Amino acid sequence: MKIVAVYGSARKNGNGEVLVERAINNFADKNPEVKRYYLTDMDIKSCMGCFACRKKEMCVRKDDMNDLLNDIIESDFVIFSSPVYMYDASGSFRLMLNRMYPMLGGEPGRYTKRYTDKKCMLIMTQGAPLLMFSGASRTIKRIIKSFGFDVCGLVRMGFANERGAAAKNEKVLRKIDAVCSKAIKL
Ligand SMILES: Cc1cc2nc3c(=O)[nH]c(=O)nc-3n(C[C@H](O)[C@H](O)[C@H](O)COP(=O)(O)O)c2cc1C
Repeated sequence: MKIVAVYGSARKNGNGEVLVERAINNFADKNPEVKRYYLTDMDIKSCMGCFACRKKEMCVRKDDMNDLLNDIIESDFVIFSSPVYMYDASGSFRLMLNRMYPMLGGEPGRYTKRYTDKKCMLIMTQGAPLLMFSGASRTIKRIIKSFGFDVCGLVRMGFANERGAAAKNEKVLRKIDAVCSKAIKL
């Protein structure tokens, strides 16, 4: 089994990272190959809007995104994580989403999904209580689904500014475990 873990926060050992590691541990019995991608440590350039990926399945830009995209395409499960920054995912996470455009074929209005067997989960942390900013995670989930992913679960965590808060949040840890056990059965 191959798992790709995408970390959208620059904060090392932050709450998002703790939750991703918890998710990965759920698959320990499967002895998975795990590829970890810390987006802010990577060279991911902006999408140029050249539309070359409408005809060809990879991006023409030569940077670290090609490795990530290849691993996503070969993966059995992707764990996406991002903090909510300014009502949205982090900038590095948004940049990655733009560069995932090669997962789609076809033309605007008649897009096709090039990969339909992909499974993932989405983890989003935020400083505010959960009642706020739910629109950010809904939008990100919709974008990921549009790439052809079966999103096995969305886990949101509020009050995540304090480092170490995730490890103490039993409710969110249980939710991570529940989503992973659902994913294992699929
Ligand atoms: C630049 C910046 C913008 C932020 N914007 C929001 C926001 O719009 N809504 C919110 O609830 N929290 C916001 N936060 C708080 C982060 O979401 C929170 O600290 C983060 O999810 C913690 O996760 P991490 O430990 O994985 O980095 C912001 C934090 C920073 C540094």
